[in-house]
Amino acid sequence: MRNLATKVRGHTTGWYERLATLQQGYYYPWESTIADGDGESAYADLVRQHLSPACDVLEVGCGHGVDAVAFAPLCRTLRAFDQVDRYITLARKAATESGIDNATFLCRNSSADRNGGQVTVPALTDSIDVVISRRGPTNWIEDVPRFCRSGAVLIQLNPLAPLTEYAWNPELPEGLRQSPPDADPDAGMLHAVETRLAKVDLCIHSCWTFDVPELLHEPRDLYRLLTFGNTPEEVPSWPEAEQHLTQLFARHAVTGGLELRHRRFLWQAIHSQ
Ligand SMILES: C[S@@+](CC[C@H](N)C(=O)[O-])C[C@H]1O[C@@H](n2cnc3c(N)ncnc32)[C@H](O)[C@@H]1O
Repeated sequence: MRNLATKVRGHTTGWYERLATLQQGYYYPWESTIADGDGESAYADLVRQHLSPACDVLEVGCGHGVDAVAFAPLCRTLRAFDQVDRYITLARKAATESGIDNATFLCRNSSADRNGGQVTVPALTDSIDVVISRRGPTNWIEDVPRFCRSGAVLIQLNPLAPLTEYAWNPELPEGLRQSPPDADPDAGMLHAVETRLAKVDLCIHSCWTFDVPELLHEPRDLYRLLTFGNTPEEVPSWPEAEQHLTQLFARHAVTGGLELRHRRFLWQAIHSQ
């Protein structure tokens, strides 16, 4: 068994491919209540503000196509890609079932090491007006000057790690415990995005940090969250963990459940060249 925490910060291609074999699509398998004003809703609102029947959109890291299906009716064309073949198959199916005929889905990895040393997204030169990415990679930014039209809007939502260790973390059984967060995850994310943008002479136009409570209602939901993307061999089984997590809930839950922080970084930039 290994400590999950090492994986929570950045998922590898292998992790996503394995997740795709464990569940049908990219989604969180636990139930929770997220407070109003969260970053996911703000992202969807911001994307909608920039879509129009005259614009061509690229979605980076589309997963199984939830956003592509929602946004394609609001634009002229939507091209979406993801490195996981199974997600692309599911996304195509979802689009077909929704009667969408202006979206294309491609299985591609945009990273430099998969493209002869140069970050490359699957879009033609000078072909895109809006780039969107909900929790996808940031490497695509390097290719923006090639594939984006002048005035293109870039919008991305990035997850943020907790600012501090949860009080209950040390009480978790070994194998579920998470290592303490980085000293300043918010500054780290801002710096990572700014550095990518600066490489291609771009900068953030606007950005927002969201930090709202997320309540897990049942110990089993905490187990699902802590074991997300793990094979059964890597973590304690639910019967092994149940008593620990039930006691932890009894000690730390507030009205409505156990509180975690739902943290996101949302930014937009304009490609004005
Ligand atoms: C956190 S998931 C989000 C999926 C989807 N956008 C959503 O919000 O449901 C990140 C996605 O980005 C994809 N991804 C990560 N790095 C990638 C890369 N270099 N090229 C293509 N896809 C990538 C992963 O396979 C995964 O499906």
